[in-house]
Amino acid sequence: MSHISGVKKPLCHTNSFTGEKVPKYGVETSHEEELGKMLGEIDRWGIDMFRIGELSNHRPLTAVAYASFQSRELLKTFMIPPKTFVTFMMTLEDHYVKENPFHNSLHAADVTQSTNVLLNTPALESVFTPLEVMAALFAATIHDVDHPGLTNQFLINSSSELALMYNDESVLENHHLAVAFKLLQNDGCDIFVNLGKKQRQTLRKMVIDMVLSTDMSKHMSLLADLKTMVETKKVAGSGVLLLDNYTDRIQVLENLVHCADLSNPTKPLSLYRRWVDLLMEEFFLQGDKEREQNMDISPMCDRHSATIEKSQAGKHVCVSGGVAHLQVGFIDYIVHPLWETWADLVHPDAQDILDMLEENRDWYQSMIPPSPPAGELKEAGRGGDLVEQEEDDSRQDRIRFQVTLEEGEGEEEEEEGGASSAAGM
Ligand code: CMP
Ligand code: MG
Ligand code: ZN
Repeated sequence: MSHISGVKKPLCHTNSFTGEKVPKYGVETSHEEELGKMLGEIDRWGIDMFRIGELSNHRPLTAVAYASFQSRELLKTFMIPPKTFVTFMMTLEDHYVKENPFHNSLHAADVTQSTNVLLNTPALESVFTPLEVMAALFAATIHDVDHPGLTNQFLINSSSELALMYNDESVLENHHLAVAFKLLQNDGCDIFVNLGKKQRQTLRKMVIDMVLSTDMSKHMSLLADLKTMVETKKVAGSGVLLLDNYTDRIQVLENLVHCADLSNPTKPLSLYRRWVDLLMEEFFLQGDKEREQNMDISPMCDRHSATIEKSQAGKHVCVSGGVAHLQVGFIDYIVHPLWETWADLVHPDAQDILDMLEENRDWYQSMIPPSPPAGELKEAGRGGDLVEQEEDDSRQDRIRFQVTLEEGEGEEEEEEGGASSAAGM
């Protein structure tokens, strides 16, 4: 218990780039020019992170973090030596588990880049201090570090060391934070070395708040608070949001990073589909483990039953009906309510993102195998079964999301059924 698991012996990353000079884009690569071109689009929603992974010599996180900190002059503002920055980011990136199909450093790079774009939203122009901006980007870079590819529920059910360590509360998210702050203590890794004591304290508090808010069991309460903020939205003369206390400021930042974490369904369909395939594979690997250990197999984690539904093959597409069903449910109950509220907050900045999400939702909906028309079933004397089947499906949906989403502790009942009923829970 006296040490943080997963933290590797300090590696000599100072030798990871030749010479004293930090590579132009933070990573050594034989594709520097092409990488530079792609990083030139760091402010664009929908940039191809998979390609950046290839061009950066499989160091997308280091490249994206370096580019977003540089473009905001955060290294200058906070006197972060470039070598220290790159050394820390490479060490952090090495602590993302390469073998995870989804929760690896590519996802962290994606969330960091998405956070970078959301921070540029016109409604937030000059709202946040450089320290707050840096905290949000840093939180995004570390937010899933040393993720074992297993859910909190699995870690709790299997009485893992991590669940024991954190008493079943936001087990993974506490761990990501502990690992990241520990890594800052490695030689030559403290990127905050030149911050004042107060600045370090404030930054640490904000980062902890943001990463703990990425726990999906906090989603409903985070969203409820965001809705309240939208209802009572205050705007300064220039049209930007007025956030005049810590609670409001951190709440927007928590939601911003949470939106970035749940942004894959808002990206161009070809990218979104790749993220879904990777995430499903990770869920199935957990299911395999559960089967092996005679545990109950978590919803959507059974590669056999989840793919039983017929694949609907168009000319070039083949999506399992089960996967399509999950995506439509995930968007309808979780992702759309969040993004719709965010879009209200920063109106009209996020309209294109919301449009893309809705298009993607309709595409996955079109991939769900059609139920036979009720008439045909009636003729076959199975009309009653269909209704039961549909009720069963919606019950299944609710169960599925209840597993990922527990209501926050001490949360107040909402009026009009609020977020919970919108989420079908
Ligand atoms: P994590 O990245 O830790 O936090 C957000 C969680 O949302 C993520 O883990 C997944 O468990 C879940 N998630 C993200 N994208 C999708 C998706 N497209 N479909 C289903 N679940 C998702
Ligand atoms: Mg996470
Ligand atoms: Zn994540």
